[in-house]
Amino acid sequence: MKVVTVVGARPQFIKAAVVSRQLRKSHSEILIHTGQHYDYNMSGQFFEELDIPKPDYNLGISGGTHAQMTGKMMIGLEELLIKERPDWVLLFGDTNSTLSAALSAVKLHIPICHVEAGTRTHSMTNPEEINRICTDHISTLLLASTQSGMDEMHKEGLKGRAFLVGDPMYDAFTQYSMKKDISEVELTTLEQKRIKVPESYYYLTCHREENTSVEDNLLEIFKAMEGLDAKVIYPVHPRNKQRALALKEREKFQNLVLTEPVGYLDSICLVKHAKKIVTDSGGLQREAFFAGKKCVTVLDFVVWPETMVAGRNTLSAPKKEEIMKKLSEPQVVDRSYQPFGDGYSAQKIVKQIEERRYINLIRK
Ligand code: UD1
Ligand code: UDP
Repeated sequence: MKVVTVVGARPQFIKAAVVSRQLRKSHSEILIHTGQHYDYNMSGQFFEELDIPKPDYNLGISGGTHAQMTGKMMIGLEELLIKERPDWVLLFGDTNSTLSAALSAVKLHIPICHVEAGTRTHSMTNPEEINRICTDHISTLLLASTQSGMDEMHKEGLKGRAFLVGDPMYDAFTQYSMKKDISEVELTTLEQKRIKVPESYYYLTCHREENTSVEDNLLEIFKAMEGLDAKVIYPVHPRNKQRALALKEREKFQNLVLTEPVGYLDSICLVKHAKKIVTDSGGLQREAFFAGKKCVTVLDFVVWPETMVAGRNTLSAPKKEEIMKKLSEPQVVDRSYQPFGDGYSAQKIVKQIEERRYINLIRK
Protein backbone atom coordinates (compact mmCIF):
# COMPACT_ATOMS: atom_id res chain seq x y z
CA MET A 1 0.00 0.00 0.00
CA LYS A 2 1.27 3.50 -0.76
CA VAL A 3 0.42 6.20 1.76
CA VAL A 4 1.13 9.90 1.47
CA THR A 5 1.47 11.50 4.90
CA VAL A 6 1.22 15.29 5.08
CA VAL A 7 2.71 17.20 8.01
CA GLY A 8 3.58 20.85 8.52
CA ALA A 9 3.51 21.89 12.17
CA ARG A 10 5.25 20.89 15.41
CA PRO A 11 2.49 18.71 16.90
CA GLN A 12 2.20 16.78 13.63
CA PHE A 13 5.89 15.88 13.61
CA ILE A 14 5.49 14.23 17.02
CA LYS A 15 2.48 12.17 15.90
CA ALA A 16 4.12 11.27 12.57
CA ALA A 17 7.23 10.07 14.44
CA VAL A 18 5.34 7.19 16.02
CA VAL A 19 2.89 6.47 13.20
CA SER A 20 5.40 6.61 10.30
CA ARG A 21 7.70 4.18 12.09
CA GLN A 22 4.85 1.68 12.35
CA LEU A 23 3.53 2.32 8.84
CA ARG A 24 6.92 1.80 7.20
CA LYS A 25 7.26 -1.68 8.67
CA SER A 26 4.93 -2.99 5.97
CA HIS A 27 4.00 -0.17 3.61
CA SER A 28 5.48 2.50 1.42
CA GLU A 29 5.18 6.03 2.77
CA ILE A 30 5.79 9.33 0.99
CA LEU A 31 6.23 12.13 3.51
CA ILE A 32 5.25 15.66 2.48
CA HIS A 33 6.18 18.65 4.67
CA THR A 34 4.16 21.71 3.74
CA GLY A 35 6.74 24.02 5.32
CA GLN A 36 4.23 25.63 7.70
CA HIS A 37 6.80 25.43 10.52
CA TYR A 38 10.31 25.95 9.26
CA ASP A 39 12.71 27.28 11.94
CA TYR A 40 15.17 24.60 12.99
CA ASN A 41 13.81 24.56 16.54
CA MET A 42 10.21 24.27 15.25
CA SER A 43 10.87 21.61 12.61
CA GLY A 44 14.34 20.18 11.78
CA GLN A 45 15.17 19.45 15.41
CA PHE A 46 12.03 17.28 15.71
CA PHE A 47 12.97 15.25 12.64
CA GLU A 48 16.46 14.66 14.02
CA GLU A 49 15.58 13.91 17.64
CA LEU A 50 12.59 11.70 16.86
CA ASP A 51 14.26 10.02 13.92
CA ILE A 52 11.49 10.98 11.51
CA PRO A 53 12.35 10.10 7.90
CA LYS A 54 13.48 13.03 5.79
CA PRO A 55 10.46 14.43 3.92
CA ASP A 56 10.32 13.40 0.28
CA TYR A 57 8.98 16.87 -0.52
CA ASN A 58 8.97 20.20 1.29
CA LEU A 59 6.61 22.77 -0.21
CA GLY A 60 8.16 25.65 1.73
CA ILE A 61 4.80 27.32 2.31
CA SER A 62 4.32 29.31 5.53
CA GLY A 63 2.94 32.55 6.90
CA GLY A 64 0.37 34.87 5.33
CA THR A 65 -3.34 34.85 6.07
CA HIS A 66 -5.18 31.60 6.65
CA ALA A 67 -6.59 31.66 3.11
CA GLN A 68 -3.22 32.48 1.55
CA MET A 69 -1.51 29.64 3.37
CA THR A 70 -4.29 27.13 2.78
CA GLY A 71 -4.69 28.05 -0.89
CA LYS A 72 -0.97 27.84 -1.68
CA MET A 73 -0.70 24.51 0.10
CA MET A 74 -3.68 23.11 -1.81
CA ILE A 75 -2.10 23.97 -5.14
CA GLY A 76 1.25 22.43 -4.18
CA LEU A 77 -0.30 19.34 -2.65
CA GLU A 78 -2.64 18.68 -5.56
CA GLU A 79 0.33 18.53 -7.92
CA LEU A 80 2.18 16.06 -5.70
CA LEU A 81 -0.87 13.87 -5.12
CA ILE A 82 -1.49 13.60 -8.86
CA LYS A 83 2.17 12.67 -9.34
CA GLU A 84 2.34 10.13 -6.49
CA ARG A 85 -1.15 8.60 -6.81
CA PRO A 86 -1.27 7.15 -3.28
CA ASP A 87 -3.81 4.63 -2.00
CA TRP A 88 -4.35 6.78 1.09
CA VAL A 89 -3.58 10.23 2.45
CA LEU A 90 -2.78 10.27 6.16
CA LEU A 91 -3.40 13.45 8.14
CA PHE A 92 -3.00 14.54 11.75
CA GLY A 93 -4.75 17.13 13.88
CA ASP A 94 -6.13 20.50 12.95
CA THR A 95 -3.66 22.80 11.27
CA ASN A 96 -3.92 24.63 7.97
CA SER A 97 -1.66 21.90 6.55
CA THR A 98 -4.27 19.31 7.57
CA LEU A 99 -7.18 21.16 5.98
CA SER A 100 -5.41 21.95 2.72
CA ALA A 101 -4.26 18.34 2.30
CA ALA A 102 -7.79 17.09 2.98
CA LEU A 103 -9.32 19.45 0.42
CA SER A 104 -6.73 18.55 -2.21
CA ALA A 105 -7.08 14.80 -1.65
CA VAL A 106 -10.88 14.61 -1.56
CA LYS A 107 -11.21 16.37 -4.92
CA LEU A 108 -8.88 13.76 -6.39
CA HIS A 109 -11.02 11.00 -4.83
CA ILE A 110 -8.16 9.76 -2.68
CA PRO A 111 -9.25 8.17 0.62
CA ILE A 112 -8.23 10.23 3.65
CA CYS A 113 -7.42 8.90 7.08
CA HIS A 114 -7.72 11.63 9.72
CA VAL A 115 -5.97 10.97 13.01
CA GLU A 116 -7.19 12.95 16.05
CA ALA A 117 -10.62 13.15 14.47
CA GLY A 118 -13.67 14.33 16.42
CA THR A 119 -11.91 16.78 18.73
CA ARG A 120 -14.21 19.77 19.10
CA THR A 121 -14.04 23.07 20.97
CA HIS A 122 -17.44 24.35 19.79
CA SER A 123 -15.83 27.72 19.18
CA MET A 124 -15.93 28.95 15.60
CA THR A 125 -13.54 31.78 16.45
CA ASN A 126 -10.91 29.11 17.10
CA PRO A 127 -9.24 28.68 13.69
CA GLU A 128 -8.38 25.04 14.38
CA GLU A 129 -12.06 24.18 14.99
CA ILE A 130 -12.90 25.05 11.40
CA ASN A 131 -10.01 22.91 10.16
CA ARG A 132 -11.17 19.99 12.30
CA ILE A 133 -14.83 20.10 11.27
CA CYS A 134 -14.09 20.43 7.55
CA THR A 135 -11.42 17.73 7.57
CA ASP A 136 -13.61 15.25 9.44
CA HIS A 137 -16.56 15.72 7.12
CA ILE A 138 -14.53 15.02 3.97
CA SER A 139 -12.38 12.19 5.34
CA THR A 140 -12.93 8.50 4.67
CA LEU A 141 -11.64 7.10 7.95
CA LEU A 142 -11.94 9.02 11.21
CA LEU A 143 -9.66 7.88 14.01
CA ALA A 144 -10.39 9.39 17.39
CA SER A 145 -7.90 9.70 20.24
CA THR A 146 -10.53 9.59 22.97
CA GLN A 147 -14.15 8.64 23.60
CA SER A 148 -15.25 12.29 23.61
CA GLY A 149 -14.06 12.53 20.00
CA MET A 150 -16.19 9.50 19.16
CA ASP A 151 -19.20 11.06 20.89
CA GLU A 152 -18.80 14.30 18.94
CA MET A 153 -18.64 12.42 15.65
CA HIS A 154 -21.74 10.42 16.52
CA LYS A 155 -23.59 13.72 17.08
CA GLU A 156 -22.45 14.94 13.64
CA GLY A 157 -23.62 11.80 11.84
CA LEU A 158 -20.11 10.48 11.23
CA LYS A 159 -20.53 7.31 13.27
CA GLY A 160 -20.06 4.83 10.41
CA ARG A 161 -16.55 6.06 9.64
CA ALA A 162 -15.31 6.69 13.19
CA PHE A 163 -13.09 4.41 15.29
CA LEU A 164 -11.34 4.82 18.61
CA VAL A 165 -7.60 4.14 18.43
CA GLY A 166 -6.06 6.15 21.29
CA ASP A 167 -3.72 9.09 21.16
CA PRO A 168 -0.39 8.97 19.30
CA MET A 169 0.77 11.81 21.60
CA TYR A 170 0.47 9.30 24.44
CA ASP A 171 2.44 6.73 22.40
CA ALA A 172 5.16 9.37 21.91
CA PHE A 173 5.15 10.30 25.59
CA THR A 174 5.57 6.67 26.66
CA GLN A 175 8.32 6.08 24.10
CA TYR A 176 10.34 9.25 24.60
CA SER A 177 9.80 10.56 28.11
CA MET A 178 12.65 8.56 29.65
CA LYS A 179 15.16 9.46 26.93
CA LYS A 180 16.54 12.57 28.60
CA ASP A 181 17.36 13.57 32.15
CA ILE A 182 16.46 17.05 33.37
CA SER A 183 20.15 17.64 34.21
CA GLU A 184 20.88 17.40 30.46
CA VAL A 185 18.38 20.10 29.52
CA GLU A 186 19.90 23.49 28.72
CA LEU A 187 17.84 26.49 27.76
CA THR A 188 18.65 29.34 25.39
CA THR A 189 17.00 32.60 26.39
CA LEU A 190 15.56 34.89 23.75
CA GLU A 191 18.62 37.07 24.41
CA GLN A 192 20.68 34.02 23.32
CA LYS A 193 22.14 33.28 26.77
CA ARG A 194 22.58 29.60 27.69
CA ILE A 195 21.09 28.82 31.12
CA LYS A 196 20.43 25.80 33.31
CA VAL A 197 16.95 24.70 34.29
CA PRO A 198 16.13 26.16 37.75
CA GLU A 199 15.67 23.70 40.62
CA SER A 200 12.01 24.61 40.91
CA TYR A 201 9.94 26.15 38.14
CA TYR A 202 6.56 26.43 36.45
CA TYR A 203 6.26 25.65 32.73
CA LEU A 204 4.30 28.03 30.48
CA THR A 205 3.50 27.69 26.81
CA CYS A 206 1.27 30.17 25.03
CA HIS A 207 0.90 30.45 21.28
CA ARG A 208 -2.79 30.60 20.42
CA GLU A 209 -4.03 33.44 18.27
CA GLU A 210 -6.70 34.00 20.97
CA ASN A 211 -4.03 34.92 23.56
CA THR A 212 -1.11 36.25 21.58
CA SER A 213 -2.86 38.65 19.23
CA VAL A 214 -4.42 40.62 22.11
CA GLU A 215 -1.72 42.40 24.11
CA ASP A 216 -3.87 42.76 27.25
CA ASN A 217 -4.40 38.99 27.39
CA LEU A 218 -0.71 38.24 27.15
CA LEU A 219 0.09 40.94 29.71
CA GLU A 220 -2.35 39.43 32.21
CA ILE A 221 -0.87 35.96 31.70
CA PHE A 222 2.63 37.36 32.24
CA LYS A 223 1.50 39.24 35.37
CA ALA A 224 0.16 35.98 36.79
CA MET A 225 3.52 34.34 36.11
CA GLU A 226 5.30 37.20 37.93
CA GLY A 227 3.17 36.49 40.99
CA LEU A 228 4.24 32.84 41.34
CA ASP A 229 6.63 31.44 43.93
CA ALA A 230 9.20 30.04 41.49
CA LYS A 231 10.67 30.96 38.12
CA VAL A 232 8.49 30.37 35.05
CA ILE A 233 10.08 28.86 31.95
CA TYR A 234 8.35 29.97 28.78
CA PRO A 235 9.67 28.69 25.42
CA VAL A 236 8.22 31.31 23.12
CA HIS A 237 6.56 30.35 19.83
CA PRO A 238 8.05 32.52 17.04
CA ARG A 239 4.66 34.14 16.33
CA ASN A 240 4.90 35.73 19.74
CA LYS A 241 8.58 36.53 20.11
CA GLN A 242 8.62 40.28 19.50
CA ARG A 243 5.58 40.97 21.65
CA ALA A 244 6.78 38.77 24.52
CA LEU A 245 10.23 40.37 24.56
CA ALA A 246 8.80 43.88 24.39
CA LEU A 247 6.34 43.23 27.24
CA LYS A 248 9.00 41.70 29.47
CA GLU A 249 11.29 44.65 28.91
CA ARG A 250 8.58 47.30 29.32
CA GLU A 251 7.13 45.78 32.49
CA LYS A 252 10.55 44.75 33.88
CA PHE A 253 9.36 41.20 34.56
CA GLN A 254 11.99 39.21 36.48
CA ASN A 255 10.33 35.90 37.25
CA LEU A 256 9.45 35.00 33.70
CA VAL A 257 12.26 33.36 31.72
CA LEU A 258 11.67 33.70 27.97
CA THR A 259 13.49 31.06 25.97
CA GLU A 260 13.74 29.89 22.40
CA PRO A 261 11.40 26.99 21.55
CA VAL A 262 12.80 23.76 22.97
CA GLY A 263 12.92 20.34 21.31
CA TYR A 264 10.36 17.66 22.13
CA LEU A 265 12.65 15.65 24.42
CA ASP A 266 13.44 18.77 26.44
CA SER A 267 9.79 19.81 26.49
CA ILE A 268 8.47 16.55 27.94
CA CYS A 269 11.34 16.55 30.42
CA LEU A 270 10.38 20.08 31.48
CA VAL A 271 6.75 18.96 31.89
CA LYS A 272 7.73 16.02 34.07
CA HIS A 273 9.79 18.15 36.47
CA ALA A 274 7.68 21.31 36.59
CA LYS A 275 5.74 22.33 39.69
CA LYS A 276 2.69 23.06 37.55
CA ILE A 277 1.82 23.88 33.94
CA VAL A 278 0.10 26.89 32.40
CA THR A 279 -0.69 26.55 28.72
CA ASP A 280 -3.01 27.12 25.80
CA SER A 281 -1.59 24.16 23.87
CA GLY A 282 -3.60 21.06 23.11
CA GLY A 283 -0.46 18.94 23.34
CA LEU A 284 0.84 20.39 26.59
CA GLN A 285 -2.51 19.86 28.34
CA ARG A 286 -2.30 16.19 27.55
CA GLU A 287 1.37 15.87 28.45
CA ALA A 288 0.67 17.54 31.82
CA PHE A 289 -2.06 14.95 32.31
CA PHE A 290 0.23 12.05 31.28
CA ALA A 291 2.84 13.29 33.78
CA GLY A 292 0.29 13.84 36.56
CA LYS A 293 1.03 17.59 36.71
CA LYS A 294 -1.58 20.17 37.57
CA CYS A 295 -2.50 22.25 34.52
CA VAL A 296 -4.30 25.54 34.01
CA THR A 297 -5.45 26.10 30.44
CA VAL A 298 -5.85 29.72 29.41
CA LEU A 299 -8.65 29.36 26.91
CA ASP A 300 -12.41 29.80 26.99
CA PHE A 301 -13.11 26.37 25.56
CA VAL A 302 -12.35 22.78 26.49
CA VAL A 303 -10.18 20.88 24.01
CA TRP A 304 -9.64 17.62 25.91
CA PRO A 305 -12.58 17.04 28.30
CA GLU A 306 -10.97 13.82 29.62
CA THR A 307 -8.29 15.91 31.35
CA MET A 308 -10.82 18.16 33.11
CA VAL A 309 -11.30 15.88 36.12
CA ALA A 310 -10.41 16.06 39.82
CA GLY A 311 -8.80 19.49 39.46
CA ARG A 312 -6.18 18.16 37.06
CA ASN A 313 -6.85 20.64 34.25
CA THR A 314 -8.93 23.79 34.65
CA LEU A 315 -9.86 26.57 32.26
CA SER A 316 -9.00 30.16 33.09
CA ALA A 317 -9.66 33.46 31.42
CA PRO A 318 -6.48 35.40 30.63
CA LYS A 319 -6.76 37.26 33.94
CA LYS A 320 -3.98 37.37 36.53
CA GLU A 321 -6.11 36.70 39.63
CA GLU A 322 -8.06 33.87 38.03
CA ILE A 323 -4.99 32.10 36.70
CA MET A 324 -3.29 32.28 40.11
CA LYS A 325 -6.41 31.10 41.93
CA LYS A 326 -6.92 28.15 39.58
CA LEU A 327 -3.27 27.18 39.90
CA SER A 328 -3.56 27.07 43.69
CA GLU A 329 -6.50 24.64 43.62
CA PRO A 330 -5.66 21.02 44.51
CA GLN A 331 -5.79 18.06 42.13
CA VAL A 332 -6.24 14.35 42.72
CA VAL A 333 -4.35 12.05 40.36
CA ASP A 334 -5.78 8.59 39.77
CA ARG A 335 -3.10 6.71 37.82
CA SER A 336 -5.56 3.98 36.83
CA TYR A 337 -7.59 6.53 34.82
CA GLN A 338 -6.01 6.62 31.33
CA PRO A 339 -8.49 7.79 28.69
CA PHE A 340 -5.83 8.28 25.98
CA GLY A 341 -5.32 4.61 25.14
CA ASP A 342 -2.62 2.09 25.92
CA GLY A 343 0.37 3.66 24.16
CA TYR A 344 -0.11 1.54 21.01
CA SER A 345 -2.34 3.78 18.93
CA ALA A 346 0.13 3.76 16.00
CA GLN A 347 -0.41 0.02 15.53
CA LYS A 348 -4.19 0.51 15.61
CA ILE A 349 -4.02 3.38 13.11
CA VAL A 350 -2.06 1.29 10.60
CA LYS A 351 -4.39 -1.66 11.13
CA GLN A 352 -7.45 0.50 10.46
CA ILE A 353 -5.97 1.65 7.15
CA GLU A 354 -4.94 -1.89 6.20
CA GLU A 355 -8.44 -3.21 6.78
CA ARG A 356 -9.69 -0.79 4.14
CA ARG A 357 -6.75 -1.11 1.79
CA TYR A 358 -8.91 -1.76 -1.28
CA ILE A 359 -10.82 1.50 -1.03
CA ASN A 360 -9.22 3.42 -3.84
CA LEU A 361 -11.26 6.00 -5.61
CA ILE A 362 -8.50 7.81 -7.44
CA ARG A 363 -8.85 8.24 -11.18
CA LYS A 364 -5.62 6.76 -12.49
C1 UD1 B 1 -0.21 26.32 14.06
C2 UD1 B 1 -1.58 25.66 14.09
C3 UD1 B 1 -1.98 25.35 15.50
C4 UD1 B 1 -0.92 24.60 16.26
C5 UD1 B 1 0.42 25.29 16.11
C6 UD1 B 1 1.47 24.40 16.71
C7 UD1 B 1 -3.01 26.50 12.28
C8 UD1 B 1 -4.21 27.31 11.97
N1 UD1 B 1 -2.61 26.54 13.56
O1 UD1 B 1 -0.31 27.58 14.69
O2 UD1 B 1 -3.14 24.53 15.48
O3 UD1 B 1 -1.25 24.56 17.61
O4 UD1 B 1 0.71 25.48 14.72
O5 UD1 B 1 2.58 25.10 17.14
O6 UD1 B 1 -2.48 25.85 11.43
N2 UD1 B 1 6.64 31.17 12.47
C9 UD1 B 1 8.01 31.31 12.43
N3 UD1 B 1 8.75 30.17 12.35
C10 UD1 B 1 8.22 28.93 12.31
C11 UD1 B 1 6.82 28.82 12.36
C12 UD1 B 1 6.04 29.94 12.44
O7 UD1 B 1 8.55 32.39 12.47
O8 UD1 B 1 8.97 27.95 12.24
C13 UD1 B 1 5.82 32.41 12.57
C14 UD1 B 1 5.41 32.93 11.21
O9 UD1 B 1 5.55 34.30 11.20
C15 UD1 B 1 3.93 32.60 11.13
C16 UD1 B 1 3.51 32.62 12.61
O10 UD1 B 1 4.65 32.16 13.32
O11 UD1 B 1 3.22 33.53 10.39
C17 UD1 B 1 2.34 31.71 12.93
O12 UD1 B 1 2.59 30.41 12.44
P1 UD1 B 1 1.41 29.51 11.87
O13 UD1 B 1 1.97 28.25 11.37
O14 UD1 B 1 0.55 30.31 10.97
O15 UD1 B 1 0.49 29.26 13.12
P2 UD1 B 1 0.82 28.66 14.54
O16 UD1 B 1 0.52 29.66 15.58
O17 UD1 B 1 2.16 28.05 14.54
N1 UDP C 1 6.69 21.52 22.30
C1 UDP C 1 8.05 21.49 22.12
N2 UDP C 1 8.76 22.62 22.34
C2 UDP C 1 8.19 23.79 22.75
C3 UDP C 1 6.78 23.80 22.95
C4 UDP C 1 6.06 22.66 22.69
O1 UDP C 1 8.62 20.45 21.77
O2 UDP C 1 8.91 24.78 22.91
C5 UDP C 1 5.95 20.28 22.00
C6 UDP C 1 5.06 19.80 23.12
O3 UDP C 1 5.32 18.42 23.27
C7 UDP C 1 3.67 20.01 22.60
C8 UDP C 1 3.85 19.91 21.11
O4 UDP C 1 5.13 20.49 20.89
O5 UDP C 1 2.79 19.02 23.01
C9 UDP C 1 2.76 20.56 20.35
O6 UDP C 1 3.00 21.89 20.23
P1 UDP C 1 2.07 23.12 20.27
O7 UDP C 1 1.76 23.48 21.67
O8 UDP C 1 2.79 24.10 19.47
O9 UDP C 1 0.75 22.73 19.45
P2 UDP C 1 -0.71 22.25 19.87
O10 UDP C 1 -0.55 20.97 20.60
O11 UDP C 1 -1.35 23.31 20.68
O12 UDP C 1 -1.40 22.09 18.58
